[in-house]
Amino acid sequence: MELPSMDSIKVAVRVRPFNQREKNAGSRCVISMQSGTTTIIHDPKNPEHIKTFTFDLAYWSHSGFQRDKNGVLISTGSNSEFAGQRDVFRDLGQGVLDSAWQGYNATLLAYGQTGSGKSYSMIGYGADKGIIPNVCEELFKATENKEKNQQYQVTFSMLEIYNEQVSDLLSKTKKPGGLKVREDQHQGFYVDGLTFVPCDSYAQIERLMEQGLKARTTAATSMNATSSRSHMLISIQFKQVFLDGDLTKQSIINLVDLAGSERQKSSGSERDRLREGSRINLSLTTLGNVISALADVAMGKRVLHIPYRDSVLTRLLQSALGGNSKTLMIAAISPADICYEETLSTLRYAERTKKIKNKAVINVSPTEKLIKELKAENNRLLSRLAGLGNSGKRVADKTKELEYLLARNQLHLQTIQITWEHQLEEARKEWEEQYRAITQERQMIKAFPYLFNVNEDPQLTGVLKHFIQAGSSDVGQAPSNKIILQGLGISDKHAMFTNMDGEVTVTPQSKCRVIVNGIPTVTKTKLQHLDRVILGSNSAYLYIGFPSERSSDDLARFDYDFFQSELAAAEGVSVDKLGALNDKDGKVDPSVLAVFQDYIKLIPLVAEANQMSEELMKGLKMELKVKNLASSDSKGYDLQKEVIVKVTNRETQEVWIWSKAKFINRKYLMEEFYQHFLDGGDIHVAQEDDPFWDPIEAIHLGSAHVWLQSLAYGMKLEAQAELLNSEGLEEAIVLINIIPCSSTGEANSEDDVVIDPLELLGKRIDFQIQIIQCLGVKWLKEDTRRGIQIGYKIYDLPITLYTKPVWKNVNAKIEETVHFVALNASHKFLNYLQKNALIVDLWGLQEGCAELNCTQEDLITWEGNILVDNTKTLTAQETNQATSNQMAELYLKLLKLEQETELLRNINRALREENVLLKDTLRGYSPRQDQKLSSVSKIATHQHHSDSPQMCTSRISCDADFAKALKVFYQSMNTVRGQFLKLRHYRLPEDDQMLRPFTQRQSHLLKDIGELLEASLWKLKNDVALIVKKKRESLVHTKYRGSSFP
Ligand SMILES: Nc1ncnc2c1ncn2[C@@H]1O[C@H](COP(=O)(O)OP(=O)(O)OP(=O)(O)O)[C@@H](O)[C@H]1O
Ligand SMILES: [Mg+2]
Repeated sequence: MELPSMDSIKVAVRVRPFNQREKNAGSRCVISMQSGTTTIIHDPKNPEHIKTFTFDLAYWSHSGFQRDKNGVLISTGSNSEFAGQRDVFRDLGQGVLDSAWQGYNATLLAYGQTGSGKSYSMIGYGADKGIIPNVCEELFKATENKEKNQQYQVTFSMLEIYNEQVSDLLSKTKKPGGLKVREDQHQGFYVDGLTFVPCDSYAQIERLMEQGLKARTTAATSMNATSSRSHMLISIQFKQVFLDGDLTKQSIINLVDLAGSERQKSSGSERDRLREGSRINLSLTTLGNVISALADVAMGKRVLHIPYRDSVLTRLLQSALGGNSKTLMIAAISPADICYEETLSTLRYAERTKKIKNKAVINVSPTEKLIKELKAENNRLLSRLAGLGNSGKRVADKTKELEYLLARNQLHLQTIQITWEHQLEEARKEWEEQYRAITQERQMIKAFPYLFNVNEDPQLTGVLKHFIQAGSSDVGQAPSNKIILQGLGISDKHAMFTNMDGEVTVTPQSKCRVIVNGIPTVTKTKLQHLDRVILGSNSAYLYIGFPSERSSDDLARFDYDFFQSELAAAEGVSVDKLGALNDKDGKVDPSVLAVFQDYIKLIPLVAEANQMSEELMKGLKMELKVKNLASSDSKGYDLQKEVIVKVTNRETQEVWIWSKAKFINRKYLMEEFYQHFLDGGDIHVAQEDDPFWDPIEAIHLGSAHVWLQSLAYGMKLEAQAELLNSEGLEEAIVLINIIPCSSTGEANSEDDVVIDPLELLGKRIDFQIQIIQCLGVKWLKEDTRRGIQIGYKIYDLPITLYTKPVWKNVNAKIEETVHFVALNASHKFLNYLQKNALIVDLWGLQEGCAELNCTQEDLITWEGNILVDNTKTLTAQETNQATSNQMAELYLKLLKLEQETELLRNINRALREENVLLKDTLRGYSPRQDQKLSSVSKIATHQHHSDSPQMCTSRISCDADFAKALKVFYQSMNTVRGQFLKLRHYRLPEDDQMLRPFTQRQSHLLKDIGELLEASLWKLKNDVALIVKKKRESLVHTKYRGSSFP
C-alpha cells in the first residue's frame, strides 16, 4: 500500500506595488525581503521594531518592473528582484501540476486583506495571467503528448460562497438558498448538484472562467453582494485512465480565492445591539480556527475538536487542510504603512498555516474494482431502503437521503461506463450557445457604443457589457426591456437609451435614479465617451462611445472610487474641503484621506440601505455626515474627523446616530433581511431583531468649549458659549459661569486673584460651575416635543455630570450649580486649567428615550463638594471600556475610602499633637519616666506622653491600635489596587467566542474587589470606633485622676 506523504503546507508571501490610494496617502513601504524566503516587516510607528518571518517563498512584486507591449509586468533587468506572474506560476503552479500528475490532490489558497492581490495572483488581470489560467493551460499542453492507451479526463467547476450560501457559477439557473453541502463516507464533503463541465482544451476553460466571472459579477450587482466578502473556489478533476492496466489515477485540484481577510474594526465605536452580521465572515473565521487547531496538532498539543463542520468553506476544504492533499498558500500583502496591522495579521496567519501537516496519498484505483464497489454499495442502499418503515418524518428524511445516494451512485456508475468522448460531446453541445454569446459579444464591442460595468472589486469590472444598438433601448428589470438590468433601486422600466444620428442619450423614467458624472439627471441627457452613469442605488457603468470616438483610453482610471468621489464632490465633500484646515505643508493629512476614503466607501452602502428601507417600507432616511472630533477635544485640536450615519424616521422625526462600524453591520443584516424578502420569505420580525430598528436614544447635538484659564488665576468667568454641531454649525448658546469660591461657596473677591497660578500649587481650590440656560435650541425648534440635557466632565473626574432634563423649551432654563474642590492643587491640574477647555455637551432627548443619569450623590464628599485633582487614585478613564461603569463605581468607592482615611489621619494627627503637648508637660514633671517611655513603643517617631504612667500606657496602646488598624486597612487597599490594576490591563479578546468567559471573569473580579472594599471599610470603621471608645474612657479616667491630683 502507498504510504501517505507527510508534508507541511507550503506557504509563499507576495507583496504588490502601491495602489493609487496608497500613493495618494504618500505611503511608505514597510516590507523588505531577503534571499527569496524571508519577509521583514517594519512597524511604521517605531521603525526599529521589526519582525522577521520565514516562509517557503517570498515574492517581491513591489518594484523593479515595467509593462511589456502585451501589458504583462516584467522585470526591469538583472538588478531587479521583481517576481512576475510567470515566476509565481513556475514555483507554485508547477507544484500543483506535478502533484496532480502524480495523482495527489492539490490545493492552492490565496489569503490576504481586500485589494492585497489575491485575485491578481490566482486569476490575473488581462494578459497578466495568474496561476489558475496558467495551470489549466499547462495541463492541456502536457496532455497533448498523450501516450497510447492513456486517456486524460478534465472536468471543471466553479463556485462562490457568500454568506454561507453556495452558488454554482456555471449553472444557468440560480437555486434560491444555494446548493447544499453534503457528506459522503468515501468522498467527504461535496456540493450537491454542482455543475462539472468536461473539458478538452484550454480555450474551453478560458471561456468557462469568463462565464463564471460573469455570473459572479451579475450576482454582485443584482444582489448587491460584495464580492470581496465572497470566496471563489475552482475545482478541477483530473483523471488519468490507464486503459491497458484498467487503472485510474485521480487528482482534485482546488484553487481558492478567499474573501478579504480584514477584520471589521469596532474600536472607537460602541458595539451594536444586534448580533454581528457574522455569517458574512463565518467561513473565514472558521478557516482561521481550523488552521489554529491544526497548527496546535502539528505542535503536539492535545486538540479535542477541529471545527471543520462549522462553516461551508471549511467543510469543502477539509481534505485540503490536514488531510489528503498537497496544499499551498499564497499570502498576499500590501507594502504600505497604512496597512501595517492587517499585513502583520496576514503574516501571522501564514505562520500558523505553515505548521500544518497533511497526509497526501496517490489516488489510484482499479476501474473495475470501483464499479464493483459502487454496485455493492447500491445493493446495500436498496436493502436499507426496503427495511425502512413508511411513516413518520424521520423515515421520510432517511428515505430521501438513501434515494439520493442511490441516484448519485447510479450517475457515478454511468459516468464511468459512458465513454469520455461521449461526455465531452454532450458538454460541448450544452455550452455551445453560451460560447456563441461570448463570441458575439466580441463582435458587438467593435460595432456599438456600450455600458461597461464598474465594480468595487476590480476583478469584476468590465465583465458585463450592455450594448446600445441603433434606435431606442429601454432599460430596467422587466424582461420586456431590450437591456435587462438587475440591481437595487432599478425599476421595471428605469430609463431609455437612444442611439440616433451618431449620438447616444439617456432619458430617465420619472422618479428613477440616473446619475451622470455625479449629477442626478431627470431629463434627456447626451452621453459622451467615458461618461460615468449610475443607475438605481448603485449600479455603476462607464459609457464607451462609438468605436470612432475611442482611442487608447486608460479605462482603469475610472474605477469605483472615481465614481464615488464624484458623488461625494456633488455632496460638497472632497479631500480638499475636509482637510482645508490642516494643509500645512502642502500635504494632506493621512487621517483626512482616511475619512474621505471611509466617506466614499459608505456612499453606495447608504444609497443601498435607503433603497432597502424604502422597498421594505421601513420609513428610514439615512444620511452620511462627517463628524469633527475637534468638538470633543479639550485642547480644541482640529485633527480627527470620523464618518457617521444620521438615521431619521421620516414619520416620527426620531433620530439616531450610528457609527460607521454599526452602520456596516446593520447594512449586512439589512441585506440578509432584504434577500429573505426577495426570496418570498416572511418579513415580519420582532422589533428587537429588526436591523432597521433601535430603541430611542439621547442624541449628541453639539459641544461648546469653555476655556478654564481664568480659574487658574482665581477669576470668575461668565460665558455665552456657542454649542456647535459636528458640522461646525451653531445648535444653541449656553450660558455658563465658572466661579472661584470659598469652601462654603462664597464667590472670591477681586483680592483673591493670583498673579501666578503656581501660587495655588498645593493649596485648596474651590470653584463652582453654574449652568444657567440654553438659548435657541435648534433641536427644539425642529420639534417642540423634545428635550435637552447638558453634560460635562472636568479634569480627572471619572464620569460625566449631566444637568436635569428640560423638555419642550427652546430656551431651556437649567440653573444648576455644582461645587468642586481640589484639596491639594497639583502642577498637572494647574496646567490643565491654563491650557484646556471644559467641553460642554448638548444632548437631545426625544419622546420615549431614557434620560441621562444626572445624580451626583456618589461623588459628593462629606463637605457636599465634588473632589477633583485626586492624582493618587487611578483614573477610570484608563480603564477598560467594556466595564467602565462598574469601574467608575469602584473608583468612587476607593475615592470615598481615601477621603475617610484622610479624616482618620487628621484625627490621628490631632491626637499626636495633643500628646506632644502632654509630653512637654510631663517632661517638667518626670524626666526619667520620659526616657523609659521612649523605649516602650516604636510605633511613631514622635512618641506620646502622658501625665501619669497609666495614662501614658493607655495612649500608647490607643495609637498602637490605630496604627495597626490603618496598617491592616492599607494592606487590603494594596490588594484592591493590585486587582484594580489587573482589571485595567485586561484586553478584550479578539475572538468573539471568548467574550463570554472574559466578561464572566471580569464580573467575578469586580465582585471580589467590591466585597473586599466593603469588608475593609467596615473593619476600619469598627476598629476606629473601638479606639475612640477606648480613648474616651481613658480621657474620662484621666479627668477623674487629674482632678484628684494635688
Ligand atoms: N503583484 C501585483 N502586481 C501588480 N498589480 C497588482 C499585484 N497584486 C495586485 N495588484 C493590483 O491591485 C489591485 C487589487 O488586487 P486584487 O484584485 O488581486 O485584490 P484581492 O486581494 O483579490 O482583493 P479582494 O479581496 O477585494 O478580492 C488590482 O488592481 C491589481 O491589479
Ligand atoms: Mg479578489
